[in-house]
Formats: sequence, structure tokens, C-alpha cells
Amino acid sequence: MIVLGIETSCDETAAAVVRADGTVLSDVVHSQVALHAAHGGVVPELASRDHAKNIEPVVREALERAHTTLDQLDGIAVTHRPGLVGALLVGVQVAKGIAWASAKPVVGVDHLFGHLLAIFLRREGASPPAPDLPFIALLVSGGHTAIYRVDDFDPSRITELGATRDDAAGEAFDKVAKLLGLGYPGGPVIDRLAAAGNPRAIPLTKPKMHGRASEFSFSGIKTQVARLVAARPPADDREVADICASFQSTVTSVLAEAVVRAAASENVPRIVLGGGVAANRELRQRVTDLARESAFDVFLPDLASCTDNAAMIALAGAKRLERGHRDGWDLSASSRTILPRTTRKGRGRR
Ligand code: KG4
Ligand code: ZN
Repeated sequence: MIVLGIETSCDETAAAVVRADGTVLSDVVHSQVALHAAHGGVVPELASRDHAKNIEPVVREALERAHTTLDQLDGIAVTHRPGLVGALLVGVQVAKGIAWASAKPVVGVDHLFGHLLAIFLRREGASPPAPDLPFIALLVSGGHTAIYRVDDFDPSRITELGATRDDAAGEAFDKVAKLLGLGYPGGPVIDRLAAAGNPRAIPLTKPKMHGRASEFSFSGIKTQVARLVAARPPADDREVADICASFQSTVTSVLAEAVVRAAASENVPRIVLGGGVAANRELRQRVTDLARESAFDVFLPDLASCTDNAAMIALAGAKRLERGHRDGWDLSASSRTILPRTTRKGRGRR
């Protein structure tokens, strides 16, 4: 089975061609980072317009690089939730158009489900080993941060074990980078600068969670950094690196401890990372080190599979198509995930 995947949920216009066994035949990502950088974050209207401009050449390139024609496809998978609705609609409408023109089935994919399956992508060169089911997944992106138990390739059989009560981990990286004047997105630059800093330079308090063991919170850590910087702005690059290192070590240790604790309490010795923050070197190292103490196996996706891409969407779509799922021409977009949510964010609904 060969599937074309389309992803336009946020600030990447992406298309990929993937086999149902995870082999990536092509993976094209057009990033809008430069477009949004001046605004310090994603501007939804600009995102939609840019997707509309670039989606056609991106899809064309994905098919060409995979040496695949539309009639060789078994279906078209498209991210239809969660995300910016105007941005999602560009991908959804294009996917339906292609499906209509080629008389192929179209399936909508939940973006978070895609991140959870990214570990099964097989790219040219070295690819990580794939876990058996069930596994415990730490999903850390710019919009979501949660721990799941994955028993099956059916989103309805995924259990949320815990989540952030406030900011997503990536959001915290982006906000801290912004207040240090490091630009957007913040994760990659903090990752780079932290390597040269002293993680013990600034004492940051880890949040004490009184609820479920796998819940966490990041807004307090971010606020501590904001107060510190307001009281005494960093004097030089060395001090900026120290703040980055202290922030990153606090956040990554909270995440690593939470996922290893979740694996222990579920008695599932397999941990999978996913989402943009899973590209963070310290997080990958900390989870690996901590899991080793309990003899748990850790599965880390290739860096290109962590951040937003359409290959993971194509693979998740292939899993749905294999089970006979088809969506109709009424397939629409939603800002909310279909994955079960058991953790309340703040007082309102997540
Ligand atoms: O999964 P993703 O590409 O998009 C969403 O679904 O949100 O995640 C983007 C997030 C951003 O907040 C970005 O700063 C963060 O992932 N990120 C990182 C790293 N690379 C990307 N955070 C920490 N370290 C990194 N190396
Ligand atoms: Zn994502």
C-alpha cells in the first residue's frame, strides 16, 4: 500500500509518499519559519495564505521524488485536526480534490496520532528500531504535551496517562527564547546554546504536582525565568547560555522522570518519544539514561520524524486505510484532537 500524506496544521506545508510498512519514499517540508519569525510566533492568517500558495508545488515535488503517479497511490491521508482551522482546511480541500480527480480514497488523520506513529517511519540510511505494542509515548510538541499508552494502531484505543496542566513543552521553549531575544522557534536555538551553558547556574524550582503522577506544568518554570531576566537581564552570551542550560535541564528532567514513572506504573518497559521537542538532545539523553536504570527500552525517532512532517501523516493514514476506514467529501477540519483527554488544562477544557 502506498499513501500520499498532506500536512498543513500549523507552520509547515508538507507532503510525503510512504509505504504502509513505514518506508518513506519522499518527504517534502516547506517551513514558514521565516514568514512568522518577525512576529515572534505563528500568525494564523499568514499561515493559511502561505499553505494555499505552496501546497500544490509541495505535493507535486513529493510525488516526483517518490517516482510515483496518482494512479499508483492507494489513498490520500490528510491532517484534519488538531491545528489552526484555516490552515488545516487548505490541506483538507487539496486532499479531497486529489482524491476526487484520481478516484482514490481520502482519510483524515489526527496530527497527534501521526506524531505517535513517527517512530515507525523508515528512512534511507539508519532508522531507529521499532517498538512492539503496547508502548508508553511521551508526545512533546509546540501545541501538546502528554503521556499516552498505545495498545493498538487505532486512535480510540490510545489512553492518555497524563498531560501538561498549562503550557506545552515546546511552547515553554518558544516563550523563554522570545524573552531572551533568541527568535522563533525557540527549541532548536535553546538546544544549541544550552550545550555551552552551566545547567546549575540558575536555580529553578521544579513544579510539585499534587494530582496524578504523570501530570506536569511548565508555566511556572517559564515565569521564574521571566522574573529573573526582568530583575537582571543577562550581561553577555555566557549568561544567556547559562539560562538556556538551566531552563532546559529543568524541563527535560521533569519530562524524563514523568515518562519513566508512567512506564513503571503501567508495567510497560517500552518508551517512545514523539513531537518537535523529542528532537532535543538533552531530553533524548535524559530519557535514555533514566530508562536504563529500570532496564526499559527507549525508541527515539529520527530528527526529521520528530518535527512536523507529512510522512507520519501518510503512515497513520495507511493504518486507517488498512482497517477499511474511508472519509467522505464532508471531511472537515477541527482545532481539537480525537485522542482521549483525561487531564484538565487549568480550569477550562483543553
Ligand atoms: O511537533 P512540532 O514540529 O509542531 C507542533 O505540532 O507543535 O513541534 C514544534 C515545537 C516548537 O515549540 C519548537 O520550539 C520545538 O518543537 N522544538 C524543539 C527542538 N526542535 C523543535 N524544542 C527543544 N529542542 C529542540 N531541538
Ligand atoms: Zn506537530
